Amino acid sequence: MTPKTFKIKSFGCQMNVYDGERMAELLTSEGLSPADEAIEADLVVLNTCHIREKAAEKAYSDVGRLRREDGSKPLIALAGCVAQAEGAEAKRRSNMIDIVVGPQAYHRLPEMVAQATRGARPVDTDLPPLSKFEAFPQRRRANPSAFLTVQEGCDKFCTYCVVPYTRGAEISRPSGDILGEAQNLVDAGAREIVLLGQNVNAWSDGDRGLAELIRALARIDGLERIRYTTSHPVNMSDALIVAHGEVEKLMPYLHLPVQSGSSRILKAMNRSHTAESYLATIEKMRAARPDIAISGDFIVGFPGETEADFEATLQIVDAVRYASAYSFKYSPRPGTPAATMEGQIEREIMDDRLQRLQARITEHQLAFNRSKVGMDTQVLIERKGRHGRQMIGRSPWLQSVHVETDAEAGEILDVTLVAAGPNSMTGAARQREAA
Ligand code: SAH
Ligand code: SF4
Ligand code: F3S
Repeated sequence: MTPKTFKIKSFGCQMNVYDGERMAELLTSEGLSPADEAIEADLVVLNTCHIREKAAEKAYSDVGRLRREDGSKPLIALAGCVAQAEGAEAKRRSNMIDIVVGPQAYHRLPEMVAQATRGARPVDTDLPPLSKFEAFPQRRRANPSAFLTVQEGCDKFCTYCVVPYTRGAEISRPSGDILGEAQNLVDAGAREIVLLGQNVNAWSDGDRGLAELIRALARIDGLERIRYTTSHPVNMSDALIVAHGEVEKLMPYLHLPVQSGSSRILKAMNRSHTAESYLATIEKMRAARPDIAISGDFIVGFPGETEADFEATLQIVDAVRYASAYSFKYSPRPGTPAATMEGQIEREIMDDRLQRLQARITEHQLAFNRSKVGMDTQVLIERKGRHGRQMIGRSPWLQSVHVETDAEAGEILDVTLVAAGPNSMTGAARQREAA
């Protein structure tokens, strides 16, 4: 039976969210319509993440849960990074999986669905650069803050990480395509665009880098805010830093993962930056844009991490004064060099370090948020809150701001920040002045 309805469930990073949106548009253009619940859909696409063991295991338990009470099941496509990592093996691990489609093969999804409808179990984990983008239809709907993937893949090969294997080599989309899609998104209602890439600041087109791309995007009327994520410290060019001081639409926020504060561990991670070079980059950035909110990622319990190495991580947190940060316990990933390194750390020690790190990060988040109390700023309203007239949006520093207002999603509202918590702010809408 040809599927009429579909459900896409995306996990992992924002690039998966973007791919999920575009697959939905692709399936819609093929005549399918979205279903509310996965279990009721004719076709379910599980857009998975392989970054840590838990994320990967989740994919298979989600597949199992799609069995209906009458014994039937939807057509199931395993997509995303688990699909790429496992390939045909995924079909052996679960006989419920009909289609295995890797992150660079989504342009073949409609054809693979047709094959599966005829009883085949197609697998495509080729990594042809950029083909999927050419197959996706034009953007017709956009969130106030819309994602736009400009760069895919990674050549950095950090010793703990699966991304170079699941997303393929670093590749940049041409600037003409990106500007066209950005215009589409703005026409469809986006006020903010978040440029995405596993190493977004490695984007290039000829001799132009991300800074030039941002300056070109800033000329689009109706586009009010530009962000980008995730950046790698070694690709943080002076041109990009300078742009933060000059391009008004470029928001004062930078996600720049350091992973560890110990240069010895960073070397074992193959990060190609040290704690010192990272701090020097942050200092330059603050000179260009003093109010910039810095965010980051950390891994605790990398093989060989001593208490002294971990203390160095706490120190770098204090030195940077992160406005927000994500921290993870090291998860050994099959096929990566770190998985077989000596000195794997016991779970109890990892738990303890993670807790201490997160407590320290929370202190800095709260301090950053409190430093903004009393300030007049602007909030891009994104969605309804839990009750009454409450709406939720983002400040320029990416803080989540709750505000009572009649303003709708997509409006940029003048707000005074009146209270701070570790994870969100309360804002009061200011009277709109007559022009
Ligand atoms: N390209 C980005 C991040 C990609 S993955 C960068 O280089 O910064 C997102 C985050 O997951 C990483 O920053 C890292 O902190 C974490 N991560 C990646 N592999 C991991 C692993 N094996 N165990 C635990 N955390 C991991
Ligand atoms: Fe993974 Fe490192 Fe590449 Fe980031 S830079 S995606 S952590 S290999
Ligand atoms: Fe996960 Fe793949 Fe993104 S492993 S973090 S979904 S690139």
